[in-house]
Amino acid sequence: MTRALIVNKDESGQVNSEVREVGEDFLGEGDLLIDVAYSSLNYKDALALAGNPGVVRNLPIIPGIDAVGTIVESDAADFQPGDVVVLNGAGLGERRHGGYTQRLRIDSASTIRLPEAFTPEQGAAIGTAGFTAALSVDALLRQGVKPGDGEILVTGSTGGVGSISIHLLKQLGYTVVALTGRVEEYGDYLRDLGATEVLDRAALSGQGKPLQQARWAGVVDSVGSHTLVNALAQIKWGGVATACGLAQGADLPGSVLPFILRGVQLLGINSVDAPLELRESAWALLAEQLDTAVLESFTEVLGLEEAAAAGAALLAGKRHGRAVVKP
Ligand SMILES: NC(=O)c1ccc[n+]([C@@H]2O[C@H](COP(=O)([O-])OP(=O)(O)OC[C@H]3O[C@@H](n4cnc5c(N)ncnc54)[C@H](OP(=O)(O)O)[C@@H]3O)[C@@H](O)[C@H]2O)c1
Repeated sequence: MTRALIVNKDESGQVNSEVREVGEDFLGEGDLLIDVAYSSLNYKDALALAGNPGVVRNLPIIPGIDAVGTIVESDAADFQPGDVVVLNGAGLGERRHGGYTQRLRIDSASTIRLPEAFTPEQGAAIGTAGFTAALSVDALLRQGVKPGDGEILVTGSTGGVGSISIHLLKQLGYTVVALTGRVEEYGDYLRDLGATEVLDRAALSGQGKPLQQARWAGVVDSVGSHTLVNALAQIKWGGVATACGLAQGADLPGSVLPFILRGVQLLGINSVDAPLELRESAWALLAEQLDTAVLESFTEVLGLEEAAAAGAALLAGKRHGRAVVKP
């Protein structure tokens, strides 16, 4: 038996979650069985905990898009019992059971060994948010954006993706400007992370002109909608934006002018289905650049029973930084 948090619907269609014991047959398929040390709480987990049908495809489901743990059984040649591994996305907590459980079956195809630089708790604190931040920063590096090219704008900056992006960019020597809806409350937090300036998100959240005064060499966006469109309209010639999220909206109500008049590039970031090569590259960047003391300064540890309430608070915009979930 294993203890897990399960999201389900009752007869009236009401979504509920409960922590209970399930048998190993409940855990589904996969060539690795792991003892989960930690999962984490991401925006998508908060949606799953609320039963959002856009995230959870089947009910009942164990949420948790991240899992860090030790292999107990392996049918994969590359992994042995005792290996400490990390898996981000790959359908966990969406198309199949995720990490809010003591034991979990996963597929080796998207699984990597946790870099030795990190404890399992730190690996989960990084989680999908940090992995996505690293994929985004890695994408800017691959496109040749250099610290000397100018400022980088990070949107949704108090969130998990935003916070870790600011830190990684600062570590790499970039000048970072943070965009947030909570300047008063978290301005100091963002400056401590490495932002040289903190801007109110209201400046970019409404409809703007298709081309605006050029300022940014790069943008790491997790917000979408008007914010991303305005950020694109403010990118300097040849600059690059990454888009991973939709905290403001999934729409992109803009024009092609930044692309055809300033050679701006827009790169999509997908952590769920990222191939192994990109996963290894992003985790290597994290291992090289991330200061674990900084990570721990904005990470909270939650039990399974606390996850649903924390998810609701996250959706209400009342959290910041990262939370790990200990099953
Ligand atoms: N593509 C992928 O693979 C991938 C992976 C991870 C995450 N994501 C997506 O990226 C986004 C961020 O994820 P996360 O885990 O960092 O979430 P998070 O911790 O909840 O952070 C989201 C941040 O967005 C800002 N925000 C919230 N509502 C907003 C609004 N209406 N308008 C503008 N900004 C708003 C808030 O920052 P401020 O208060 O500082 O403004 C909030 O802290 C989510 O949409 C998530 O689904 C995508």
